[in-house]
Amino acid sequence: MRRPSRWLLLACALGATAGCERAMHDMYAQPKYKPGAASPLFPDGAAAQAPPAGTVPLAQGEWAGASSGRRKAVAAPLSGMALLRRGRERYDIYCAPCHGLDGQGDGLVAQRGFPAPPSYTEPRLLALSQARIAEVIRDGYGVMYPYGDRVDARDRRAIAAYVRALQLSQHAPVSRLGPDDLAHLAGSVR
Ligand code: HEC
Repeated sequence: MRRPSRWLLLACALGATAGCERAMHDMYAQPKYKPGAASPLFPDGAAAQAPPAGTVPLAQGEWAGASSGRRKAVAAPLSGMALLRRGRERYDIYCAPCHGLDGQGDGLVAQRGFPAPPSYTEPRLLALSQARIAEVIRDGYGVMYPYGDRVDARDRRAIAAYVRALQLSQHAPVSRLGPDDLAHLAGSVR
């Protein structure tokens, strides 16, 4: 007896894959209500119900941003340079548009007319604790919006550490400099 040709085997394999594709589509096609559809479940006959009065839309917590319904992986705590690197990456995304890459308050958004934030090297801001900076990120401050729904607790800590690093990079008291920095400073002054 002749063995089945390679073409026949290939055709069978393709047929099986097509069946698979159909099965996947069956999941899209399961019974569901579309927006605006009627339903006998509720007194007003509509499937979509208005949220209760006073509902505030806010995505937060471990389900935020998980449209797949999957829990976000819990990120490991960061420290040292890894914390600062993460802080810089998040700062450049969420804060630099207004505060500027160096924190002087002259980001593009401020240049285009949004009230300019103060420089991080103003004495009052130098005195803020990192915990307070993380709180400002979460809750906002004055005309600055809250970022708690986009920047989670770990990243707020990382950004606060990076803001402190920005401050020190531009405003460190000589007493905090190490021997290398002091030698460098002496060289540049001479
Ligand atoms: C849309 C522009 C904008 C963005 C984005 C923004 N800020 Fe601000 N921020 C401001 C403005 C404006 C102020 C001053 C608010 C006021 O005094 O009313 C401010 C104030 C602050 C202050 C000072 C609070 C105080 O006690 O005076 C800190 C700290 C701060 N922002 C940190 C951040 C960090 C960190 C981020 C990023 C997560 C960020 N901001 C993102 C505009 C912004």
